[in-house]
Formats: sequence, C-alpha cells, structure tokens
Amino acid sequence: METKFWLSIMLFISRIGIIDAAGQCHLAEYSIGGLFLRGHTFKTYQVGLPEDCYCRCFQELICQSFNFVLGQNLCELNKHTKEARPEDFVPDWKRFYVKRVTKRGSRKSANLKGPGSNARYSICWSFSPNDYESADKQEGQRCEPPHLSHVEIISLGTIRELPAESCSEIAASEGNKMVNRKYWTYSDGHSEVIEAYCEDDWQKINGKEPVFFRTKDNEYGAFNMTKSGRVKTMKLVHRSGSVRCNPSTGGSYWGFTNKFLYHDKLTTIITDDNKNAILPPLKKLEGLKPGGSYPRGAKQHFYSLDGNSLKSPELVFRNLTNPFSVSLSQEMLIWYGQDWKDCSENENKGKTCVDVYVWYE
Ligand SMILES: *[C@@H]1O[C@H](CO)[C@@H](O)[C@H](O)[C@H]1NC(C)=O
Ligand SMILES: *[C@@H]1O[C@H](CO)[C@@H](O)[C@H](O)[C@H]1NC(C)=O
Repeated sequence: METKFWLSIMLFISRIGIIDAAGQCHLAEYSIGGLFLRGHTFKTYQVGLPEDCYCRCFQELICQSFNFVLGQNLCELNKHTKEARPEDFVPDWKRFYVKRVTKRGSRKSANLKGPGSNARYSICWSFSPNDYESADKQEGQRCEPPHLSHVEIISLGTIRELPAESCSEIAASEGNKMVNRKYWTYSDGHSEVIEAYCEDDWQKINGKEPVFFRTKDNEYGAFNMTKSGRVKTMKLVHRSGSVRCNPSTGGSYWGFTNKFLYHDKLTTIITDDNKNAILPPLKKLEGLKPGGSYPRGAKQHFYSLDGNSLKSPELVFRNLTNPFSVSLSQEMLIWYGQDWKDCSENENKGKTCVDVYVWYE
C-alpha cells in the first residue's frame, strides 16, 4: 500500500476516495504532488501514513484540504482550497496537496461503514483520473466512529467557524457546485462575520425590502454596505416600478425614453454619500451638446452600456479598472441622472425598485 501511494505521488496526480459497503470506490479528489497550499493551516499532526492525514481531515468540520510533508510525515490541515486561494498554491517538492471529498451527499458514502465501534474508513485510488474500474482498494486507518458517522462536507462559508472573504471566494472554491443561498462571510476585516446572500460572485446588499429611487426632488435610493472591501462592480436587479422623463413618453426602468434628445440613454447612477459618481465612473458619463433648450449644454448624467437597455431586467455595470474601497455601513445612493444634476426634472415621474448586488474583489 505504501509503495503504491508513493508511486502515485511520483506520478504527480492521482485520485483518492472512499470505499462504500458494497466495496465500490467513490473516487473523490486529486492529490497534487510538488505543490501545497501555503498559510491556511489550522492544525498540524504527525502521522504514520499519508492516508492518516485524509482521515484527520475527514474528522474536522472545517478541513477543506491538506498538505502532507514528505519525510517528516506531517499533516497540515487547511481551512481553504487551492481554488479559493490560487495565489497561495505554491511549489514545494517536499509536500503534496489533497483536497477533501467535496461531492455533495458524501455524508452518505462516508457513513457506510457505520457507527460500529470498530468502524474503519477505507480509501482507494486510481492512477488515471477516469478509471473507476481499476481503482485499488485498501483498508485505511481507523477513524473515530462518532466523527465518521457525522461526516458532513463543510464547504467554505457554510458554517460560522469557516467564513469566506466574499461570495466570489466561495464561487472560486465551489465552482459550478455553488448554490445561491446565505453564506458566512467576513464583513469588516477579519473581525466580524455576517450571513450574506450570494448568487455566484454577487453579494446581495439589501434585505427583503427593495431599494427605490424616484426621479426628482432628491429622492434618491439609499443603501448601506454590509461589508467593507474593494468593490469590483455592482448590479441592480429590477423588482418593480418604472420611471419616465416626460409625460408623453413611455416608462423605462433605468433611463430616458426621449428618443430625440437622449436617444434612449441610461441614467441610473450609483454614487457615494457625497454624490460622487461611482458606477458608472464620471468619465463614462455623457452630457448634452450646447443647443436648443440647453444653450450651454447639459452636465454629464447619462450613458450607454453594452448589454443593458432601458428595460433590461438587470443593470450590470462594467468592472471598475480601479476597484472602489468601501467601509462597513457606508451609505451609497442610487440616482436618476436628472435628479442628481438637478436638470430638467420637473416633468419626471415614477420610481424604480431594485435589489442591489455587489461583486467584491
Ligand atoms: C445607514 O446607516 C445609517 C447609520 O447607521 C442610518 O442612519 C441610515 O438610516 C442607514 N441607511 C439605510 C438606507 O439603511
Ligand atoms: C468582470 O470580471 C469578471 C472576472 O473577474 C468577468 O467574468 C466578467 O465578465 C467581467 N464583467 C464585465 C462586464 O466585463
């Protein structure tokens, strides 16, 4: 068994898994030799065989992966995966890295040998990633039965003890297995955690109630950031309502339906609490050229954005070239452009209600 395990390390990549009661191998994760995850170890153990490490990781609620130190037989249990922290996945010929089984429903397969007092877990592996048939089966080390019978795969952000940096970190870690739901994330540095609703890389900022903005008399929409950090971009998801800039034209969610003057431009602008345009950035905003009823031109307050239109269900802004740093509870505003710049707003009407999503770096 040992020889084969070492051989698999030499081959640099192999699969490791658990055997169910019917003797079938549930191949789980690749081990990757010569690379390890740096700086995310929460426990270190001296073990006999590398497989013990697998067992140890299995027993820890928050273990996501482990590094094994060759020669010293040290087992380093990690709180993260290489997908969550690619920048910390670095070469070291003395170590190899294994991600914990992350297949959903592994609770069942891990439970197979039952909570009997002599329960043992078994591991198996294969040298070719897709070759389930030829997987070798081996008895592994004894895992404490109470743990084994409660094995549940804890992924990043699903318990308070294992908060993620952001929704996008979870998205990176979970890939297409990510589900839209609440996750634990840090909200301010590493001191506070919150339950944030994540949809892929996006974190929803408002709660059940939507944020709404009107079109005149400084009736902007306001929301407070629930997490400090660097904002890569935001999006607004339409929930109800519409706005119009002229009684004779139809409504829209985000802009002007005055084709003559504004050519169906968008004018929903997110600013900081000092009314500075954040999304889109000021340099992306257009104004009216001098002429007609605007002899001096009109201030910059509208824009067009590929992929978004007056009634698109979502207004998705571009990624900021320089992410915008926000503090916890910082207030942000959503403006209708004419209200923001106090120009031609008298005939405006309506309100748009939205959910606010932020993509943190
Ligand atoms: C944002 O937070 C401030 C200070 O806590 C509060 O006064 C304000 O009402 C909040 N705004 C919103 C939109 O929740
Ligand atoms: C923003 O960046 C992400 C990757 O970091 C990319 O997937 C997305 O398409 C970008 N969005 C836009 C609007 O370019």
